[in-house]
Amino acid sequence: MMRSPGEPEKKPRIVILISGSGSNMAAIADAVKAGDIDADIAAVISNKPDVAGLQKARDRDIDAQVVDHSGFQSREHFDVALMRKIDEYEPDLIVLAGFMRILTADFVRRYLGRMLNIHPSLLPKYQGLHTHQRAIDAGDTEHGVTVHFVTEELDDGPNVIQAVVTISSDDTADALQQRVRQQEHIIYPIAVKWFVSGRLTMKDNQAMLDGIALPAGGLRLEQ
Ligand code: GAR
Repeated sequence: MMRSPGEPEKKPRIVILISGSGSNMAAIADAVKAGDIDADIAAVISNKPDVAGLQKARDRDIDAQVVDHSGFQSREHFDVALMRKIDEYEPDLIVLAGFMRILTADFVRRYLGRMLNIHPSLLPKYQGLHTHQRAIDAGDTEHGVTVHFVTEELDDGPNVIQAVVTISSDDTADALQQRVRQQEHIIYPIAVKWFVSGRLTMKDNQAMLDGIALPAGGLRLEQ
């Protein structure tokens, strides 16, 4: 990007979408504040009013907005309103952090290659809900979390990074979820840092780090 002499460098701008507690948003915001991620969080937008994540954003002096999906007659109408709100902030990166909405194809196409999601499973395993219980019920010995680029399929798109969590024989879904959540707060800031520093890109439906295609599962962090 060309800058005039004396003009301050414009940092990459991030908009984070949430629907709930916002712990991943907070982990990313704290990494920005600590200087680990060189970017600005332009806004946090929730599709639900009064969720805890909005207060977490305000506590961090981040512009916290609501576009309440229940006020729209269709998914398409909501997504158009959400796009308008997002685009007011001119973001370079859209981060879905527990944003529990199925997105329209138009929405996904608009931000293709610059929208990340986190999902609590080792994708492509266990798309959708109740991932921790499903992994336990299946007798899996490992579970985990994935950060991926968003494409038109639900909980799909090229994987960027995964953290693996071992399942013990007496595990419960709650205990497993807690251990997975800890890993979420480690890997999401890493992926965001890679993206805003220009290291992480999506090309031909493939996640690339430093111009080299990442493995299909993404970079895998074992415990
Ligand atoms: C996280 O566990 C995230 O992986 C999950 O929602 C939770 C949000 O927590 N996302 C999905 O299930 C997406 N399909 P948070 O609001 O505390 O970040």
